[in-house]
Amino acid sequence: MSDEQYFTATPATPSDPISFKVALPDGTMHLTTDRGVFSHGALDMGTRVLILKTPALDETRVGEGANLLDLGCGVGPLAITLARRAPLATVWAIDVNGRALHLTRDNARANRVSNIHTCTPEQMDPSLRFEAIWSNPPIHVGKAAMHEMLLQWLPRLTPTGQAVLVVQKHLGSDSLLTWLNGAGFPTERLSSAKGYRLLRTHPRADMIDQ
Ligand SMILES: C[S@@+](CC[C@H](N)C(=O)[O-])C[C@H]1O[C@@H](n2cnc3c(N)ncnc32)[C@H](O)[C@@H]1O
Repeated sequence: MSDEQYFTATPATPSDPISFKVALPDGTMHLTTDRGVFSHGALDMGTRVLILKTPALDETRVGEGANLLDLGCGVGPLAITLARRAPLATVWAIDVNGRALHLTRDNARANRVSNIHTCTPEQMDPSLRFEAIWSNPPIHVGKAAMHEMLLQWLPRLTPTGQAVLVVQKHLGSDSLLTWLNGAGFPTERLSSAKGYRLLRTHPRADMIDQ
């Protein structure tokens, strides 16, 4: 990647698409990536860990009418996996990077899933609540900005909802786990693989009681 960061709204970096396919438990995934977007030319290892290690979704909760969120979708591998595992649910794939949103739309089509909607965070309907939030969060925006992003979206879990986050151990997964618990979101480490930690976060007590 150039010196431009992948979380730029409209990357100025010239386009250089790379398409590839990757074998995953849910089937082969066809992805087109580009410069100026996270993980150009490959499926990120953290993303792969999340896809491989996250427990199955509770089928009774991800049927018609359920909403699932891919927070910071990049080119969409998590959204596509959610869409495949919960074909009746609506998957919201959001990102601040316009090129990423465009690629997620194209990749959803290439993988023949039709239940993904893409938009910027600002375009999301504020009344929606999510049964699952999956994220390989943008650590490089800095701790304060990432915490702010999580505090914006985690309160939008349903009372039975769960968030799964994948974070590289050396990029602060353990301090994120401590911070999430301190912020009132019960969080545990689900697994650890290839230098990544998978964290599972539950709603705050006040979100369950309301
Ligand atoms: C580490 S990448 C993960 C991309 C993709 N989910 C994957 O696994 O390949 C994080 C993504 O978060 C996006 N992002 C950064 N700030 C954001 C924000 N405030 N709200 C939503 N997405 C954001 C970045 O543009 C980037 O695409």
